[in-house]
Amino acid sequence: MLICASVPAFAQQADYQNLLNMCKACHGETGESQFSSIPSLKYQNADYLSAQLAAFKSGQRPDKTMSKVAALLSEKDMQQMAKYFSEGKGK
Ligand code: HEC
Repeated sequence: MLICASVPAFAQQADYQNLLNMCKACHGETGESQFSSIPSLKYQNADYLSAQLAAFKSGQRPDKTMSKVAALLSEKDMQQMAKYFSEGKGK
């Protein structure tokens, strides 16, 4: 019972890490982008970042890459990712 109940939490955490690794591939490990065509996210306001992710997902801010990426994110993912990059974490 206890094990079964905790499976979704583990699965969600694993999904979050996989998604975050995808973000880092483009936006950089800490959100400091190495590519001139990709914006840096490091130290950007968390509220701004999560609002942009929601806008990509809703179609309010269309982008051929980010609209597809944001479609995969839950509201909780967006908040966690916004917090991660706003704090400039990672190596
Ligand atoms: C394939 C490369 C790629 C991946 C993967 C990717 N992004 Fe992006 N991201 C971009 C590009 C390019 C833009 C600029 C879009 C535009 O011009 O509007 C962008 C824009 C953004 C913005 C808006 C920044 C701003 O200053 O307004 C946020 C926030 C963002 N990405 C977060 C994420 C997160 C979180 C993930 C992972 C879930 C992610 N991105 C994955 C390429 C990527």
